[in-house]
Amino acid sequence: MGIIAPSILSADFTKLGQELIDIEKAGADWVHIDVMDGQFVPNITYGPIIVDACSKASNLILDVHLMIETPDPIIPEFVKAGANYISVHQEACTHLHRSLQFIRSFNIKAGVALNPATPVSSIEWVIDELDFILIMSVNPGFGGQKFIKSSIDKIIELSRLLKEKNSNAIIQVDGGINPETIKSVSDAGATSFVAGSAIFNTDNYKETIKNLRQNM
Ligand code: DX5
Ligand code: ZN
Repeated sequence: MGIIAPSILSADFTKLGQELIDIEKAGADWVHIDVMDGQFVPNITYGPIIVDACSKASNLILDVHLMIETPDPIIPEFVKAGANYISVHQEACTHLHRSLQFIRSFNIKAGVALNPATPVSSIEWVIDELDFILIMSVNPGFGGQKFIKSSIDKIIELSRLLKEKNSNAIIQVDGGINPETIKSVSDAGATSFVAGSAIFNTDNYKETIKNLRQNM
C-alpha cells in the first residue's frame, strides 16, 4: 500500500495543530514538512521549532524535506525536534555521501531529493546510503504548481536502478500530485506520495485521501 504524505506547506497555519489532527483522522501516513532557506529555493518557510510543534501535535511519521544549502550543521536540530525521515537535496550537498551517513548516524531514515533537471545517475554511488529518494515533479519552492511529466520517466529509470542494485529504498514523488496525476507515478514505481494543495485546498481531506489511494 502506498504512503500518503500531506505537505503542510498548504495547511492553514493559523490552526496547524487542528490541521495535523484532521489529516491524521483522514488517513494520512506521514506529515511532509518543507524547510526552505531563501537561498537554495526562492522562498522561506520554517525550521526545527515547527517540526517540534508537529511532533507534539501528531502521531504521524515526520518526513522533513530540507530545501536548504549546506544542511549538515542544522540536521541535529531537526533530529532533536522529532524528524523520522530527512531528505537533503543532491544539488545542495558537496559531500552527499557524508551527509547521508550523518543522517543515518542518528538512527533515522536518510533520503536524497532530486530537482527536475538532476539526473538519476547522479545518485548511483550513494544508493547503499539511502532509505528513500524524493523525485521532485515540480521545481522546489512553492505549492500548487503543475506536475512535470518527465518525472514519470525518471521514476521508471530509478526503479530500474534500484532493482539492479538490490535496493529497497522507497521512491517518493513530490509536486503536483493529485487524484489525476498519482496513477502515472504509481505505475512508474513510486510508493510514497507527497500532496499539499490537492489535500489542504479541499474541504474533505478524508475523501481526497481516499481518491488518491483509489487511483494509485
Ligand atoms: C515544493 C514542496 C512540495 C509542495 C508540494 O517545493 O517540496 O512538498 O508542498 O505542493 P503541491 O502538492 O501543492 O504541489
Ligand atoms: Zn516537499
